[in-house]
Amino acid sequence: MRALLGVPTPIFLLVVYGLCPSMTIGPKEGWQVYSSAQDADGRCICTVVAPEQNLCSRDAKSRQLRQLLEKVQNMSQSIEVLNLRTQRDFQYVMKMENQMKGLRTKFRQIEEDRKTIMARNFKELKDRMDELQPLIPVLEQYKTDTKLISQFKEEIRNLSAVLTGIQDELGAYDYDELYHRVMSLETRLRSCMSKLTCGKLMKITGPVTIKTSGTRFGAWMTDPMASPRNNRVWYMDTYTNSKVVREYKSMADFVSGQESRTYYLPFKWAGTNHVVYNGSLYYNKEQSNIVVRYSFETGRVLAQRALEYAGFHNVYPYTWGGFSDIDLMADEMGLWAVYATNQNAGNVVISRLEPDTLEPLSTWNTEYSKRNAGESFMICGTLYVTNSHLTGAKVYYSYDTKTSTYEYVDIPFHNPYFHISMLDYNARERALYAWNNGHQVIFNVTLYHVIKTEDDS
Ligand SMILES: *[C@@H]1O[C@H](CO)[C@@H](O)[C@H](O)[C@H]1NC(C)=O
Ligand SMILES: *[C@@H]1O[C@H](CO)[C@@H](O)[C@H](O)[C@H]1NC(C)=O
Ligand SMILES: *[C@@H]1O[C@H](CO)[C@@H](O)[C@H](O)[C@H]1NC(C)=O
Ligand SMILES: *[C@@H]1O[C@H](CO)[C@@H](O)[C@H](O)[C@H]1NC(C)=O
Repeated sequence: MRALLGVPTPIFLLVVYGLCPSMTIGPKEGWQVYSSAQDADGRCICTVVAPEQNLCSRDAKSRQLRQLLEKVQNMSQSIEVLNLRTQRDFQYVMKMENQMKGLRTKFRQIEEDRKTIMARNFKELKDRMDELQPLIPVLEQYKTDTKLISQFKEEIRNLSAVLTGIQDELGAYDYDELYHRVMSLETRLRSCMSKLTCGKLMKITGPVTIKTSGTRFGAWMTDPMASPRNNRVWYMDTYTNSKVVREYKSMADFVSGQESRTYYLPFKWAGTNHVVYNGSLYYNKEQSNIVVRYSFETGRVLAQRALEYAGFHNVYPYTWGGFSDIDLMADEMGLWAVYATNQNAGNVVISRLEPDTLEPLSTWNTEYSKRNAGESFMICGTLYVTNSHLTGAKVYYSYDTKTSTYEYVDIPFHNPYFHISMLDYNARERALYAWNNGHQVIFNVTLYHVIKTEDDS
């Protein structure tokens, strides 16, 4: 310790390096600076003296600061996730932008040399241009969002540095101000995340074939609620007369066939529309409209409940049949069942289920015939329905449970192996898992958040 001046008693001592002149130590906190000087290396040395009764408040403050630091670290993780997702979408946006620029150039050429262009070509171009038109505001918004995220990242870095350094300089910063900065950042980040993480389906890319195995009909999945390090895969081959679930520790183990566990369910399943959600398997018990919740951890059935009025055993299957009457699925909003009832004239009914008890929390009646649906999956509370299980199928209809409205859409996707018997969204991977005629494939999806022009900043 250097150059300590007269020290009153009782006393607490603290030596602080760096940043002396900018220290703001309010008298209300009971801190006093007794000296300030430079050492041989030119570093600033402050000797801070504080009365002993403030030791307690110092500990409280240090705890508060630790909490702030933790909050900032948490936010930092969220930003990484956000960044990853936005980057992926952004690449698509960039490609779109180039495509639009290319089209504009072509239009200019056409105008310059009308005679050599056939009307058919012109119409084709015009159609493509019209298709892209709605993307212009989305594109602008995305550019703003990526900028916003970089700004968040910088702010987080700044705050982290301040908070990490603070242990040595306790009292040197105004806690209220820091607290305010962290809270305001968190609020903005939260609203940014809710805006960016959910959205409307715009495009389906792929698929990538992960493996070729099993019969023509089956299901495979990972748990969207599992931690990122836990990537167990579950595999349920065939649509009828089976109760064997195979588990693999990772995607790599699944590909190489390194099975880690086999479960024998207490009841056989119907169809291929099971889902694993938060450690439980949800499936339709054969020849019934009963939904079963089975825990992988305990090997027990935790709940069973009949879906009231739901058709079963090929009364209201998807186009391919296969007892695919009741489709269980999960998205960002939770667990869902998609089925059809006589009451709704065989049209698709959507129920959000309580994951523990399987009780329906809300139900929506759509006007899309279940027997004319190829498959369906839920993203961010919107159900997307394909019009067939065969090649050439597209996402044809969507129903938004938030607004209880439907829309006809036209989102094509590639079906390389002719027959799709399962298609389910996984919110963690932001991907569609599909069983494509004995091939296990994954599609990527591109989501756009819907732009609100009025109250958006
Ligand atoms: C940070 O995240 C962890 C795990 O999600 C949570 O338990 C903790 O309360 C969070 N800390 C703060 C300060 O928000
Ligand atoms: C982060 O700190 C740097 C250097 O002190 C400063 O220039 C920048 O404006 C800060 N950024 C934010 C977003 O607070
Ligand atoms: C997931 O399971 C854990 C415990 O197994 C539970 O605490 C948590 O609430 C569940 N989450 C959801 C969304 O159901
Ligand atoms: C999905 O996107 C990720 C990240 O860009 C990429 O690594 C993966 O190969 C893609 N998968 C498919 C099925 O296109």
